[in-house]
Amino acid sequence: MKFLLIFFVTFYIVNRIFCAVPEDPQYWRKLTKKTLYYSKKFVHANEIKQAKNAILFLGDGMGFPSISAARLLKRQLTGNYGENLAFEKWDNVAVMKTYNIDFPVPDSAGTATAFCSGVKANYGTIGVNGRVPFKSTDCSLMLENGAETIYEKALKSGKSVGFVTTASVTDATPAGTYAHISSRHFESGLPFEDKRCKDIARQLVEDHKGYQVMLGGGRKHFLPEGKESGGRKDGRNLFEQWQEDMKKQNKRYKFVSTRKELLATDYNKIDYLFGSFSSSHMKFHKELKNDSSETEPTITEMTEAAVKILKKNKKGFLLLVEGAKIDKAHHLNQAYYSLNDLLAFENAIMKAQSILGNKETLMIVTADHSHSFTHSGNALFTEDVFGFSSYPDKEGKNFTNLIYSTGPGYNSSREFTKEQIKQPDYKQLSAVPLDSATHGGDDVGAFGIGPGSNLLRGSQEQTYVAHLMEFSTCIGEYANEPHCSGCKILIFSKILILIVFISHLIRFSFD
Ligand SMILES: *[C@@H]1O[C@H](CO)[C@@H](O)[C@H](O)[C@H]1NC(C)=O
Ligand SMILES: *[C@@H]1O[C@H](CO)[C@@H](O)[C@H](O)[C@H]1NC(C)=O
Ligand SMILES: *[C@@H]1O[C@H](CO)[C@@H](O)[C@H](O)[C@H]1NC(C)=O
Ligand SMILES: [Zn+2]
Repeated sequence: MKFLLIFFVTFYIVNRIFCAVPEDPQYWRKLTKKTLYYSKKFVHANEIKQAKNAILFLGDGMGFPSISAARLLKRQLTGNYGENLAFEKWDNVAVMKTYNIDFPVPDSAGTATAFCSGVKANYGTIGVNGRVPFKSTDCSLMLENGAETIYEKALKSGKSVGFVTTASVTDATPAGTYAHISSRHFESGLPFEDKRCKDIARQLVEDHKGYQVMLGGGRKHFLPEGKESGGRKDGRNLFEQWQEDMKKQNKRYKFVSTRKELLATDYNKIDYLFGSFSSSHMKFHKELKNDSSETEPTITEMTEAAVKILKKNKKGFLLLVEGAKIDKAHHLNQAYYSLNDLLAFENAIMKAQSILGNKETLMIVTADHSHSFTHSGNALFTEDVFGFSSYPDKEGKNFTNLIYSTGPGYNSSREFTKEQIKQPDYKQLSAVPLDSATHGGDDVGAFGIGPGSNLLRGSQEQTYVAHLMEFSTCIGEYANEPHCSGCKILIFSKILILIVFISHLIRFSFD
C-alpha cells in the first residue's frame, strides 16, 4: 500500500517536472525551439543570416479565403489577370496553427500572445501564460505569469521598437507587444483594486517609455471622462503624462492627433512619436476622404513614419504593423471594406519594402486567425468579386460570391438586387444570425522575405513567428546563436588571444 503511494507520488512529480502541460510556458517554448532547430537542418549554415530589423505585418482576421478574394479584387481593379499580392511573390511560406490553449477558434488576444511572446495563452488574455484564466482578477497570478514579448526583449538589447495599427492602440494585437493582463477588455480601467496592476493604456504609457512609435486610434482610453471622448474614470490624462515624461527625460518627441500633423513631422528632428487619430478604432480605408480635410492617415502613411523614425537606430528595430480593420469589417459581414483594407495593408507592406529593401530586414506577413468568410459562389472570372454566383440557388434566388457562415448579414428572405449587393456597406449573407461574425479556426499563412525568412517552412504552431523573429534578430534567449554578430566577436577574440599566446611562445623560445 505504502509502496504504491510512493510510486504514484514519485510518478506524478517526475511527470510534472519532465512533461509540461499546455498551461506551462515551457511547453510552448521547448516545442517551438525544437521545431525551429529542426527547420535549420534544411538550410545551409552559411545561409542562416542575422536580421538587423524585423517587421511583423499582421493582417487581423486575414485567412486564406481573404487573401484569395483580395487577389481577385486586385486583378479586377488593375485589369491584370496574372496580378498577385506583393507578399505572395516572396520565397518563403509556412502555415500557422492559431488555436488558443482553451479555444480551437481563437481570439486576437490569445493569438497575439503566441506571436509576440512565443507561448500560447487562453482566449482573451494578453502577454500572460496559460496559467492565467481569462478575466482573472488575481493580480499576483498575472505578475507571476507574465510572458515577456520579443518587443520588450528587443528594447533590452538596444533596438528601437514601435507599432502601427488601424485599431485602438490598446486593442488586442498592438497590446500583445507590451501588455500583460488577464483580459483584453481592461483597456482603461480594472474591475478590481490592486495598486500593483495597471490597465492596458497605463501599461503602455507608464511601463513602456522606450517605445518610439505608437500610431493608431483609441483616444478615449487615454483621456479622463469629460474631456473630448475620454472614458477614464481615474481622471488621468495619459497623453499629457506621456509628454511630461518625455520632456523630463530630454527626449525629442512629438504627439500628433491628425493626419496633417503626422505628415508635417520632420523625422530627423524627433525620436519618439505618439499618434492618436480617433476616439476608438480608425476608419475603414474606403471611408477615408481622399483630400486634405481627412484627419486620419492611411496605414501606408503611418508605416512610412514608423520606418523612417525607427531605421535611425544603428542597432536595428522591431516593428508591428497591423491591418486591423480587415477583421472588424468581417465581423460586420462587410466584405467590401475588408478586402479593400487588405489591399491598403498590402500597400503599406510595399512601402516598407521600398524604403528598407530586403538585405537587413526580416519581413513576415501573417494573420492572427482566419474568419467566418468564404469565397464560395461560383462565377466566371469576368464577374465582379462582389457580384452574384453564375447560377441561382434551389429556390431560384441569386446568391453572392462572397458569403459568411455567421454574423449580422443573416437574412431569411435572401432577396437582393444587383444594385443592393454593390453598395459598400452591403452585408453579405450569413447562414447563422449573430451580431458579430465569429472567427475561423482554419490555419493561416506566413509569408517571409529577408534574413531569417528561409526558416519559414512547414506547418507550425503560431509561437513559431515570435521565436523566428527573436532568433533572426539575435535577441533574448537566441542572442548567442552561431549566426549572431555577438558570437562572431567571441570567436574573433579567441583567435586574438591565441595569436598573442603563440607570439609570446615564439619569443620565449628565441630568448
Ligand atoms: C487619392 O487619389 C489619388 C489620385 O487619384 C490616388 O493616387 C491615391 O491613391 C488616393 N489615395 C487614397 C488614400 O485613396
Ligand atoms: C438574378 O440575377 C440575374 C442577373 O443579375 C437577374 O437577371 C435575375 O433576375 C436575378 N434573379 C432574381 C430572382 O433576382
Ligand atoms: C432582408 O432583405 C430584404 C430584401 O433585401 C430587406 O428588405 C430586409 O430589410 C432584410 N432583412 C433584414 C433583417 O436585414
Ligand atoms: Zn476579430
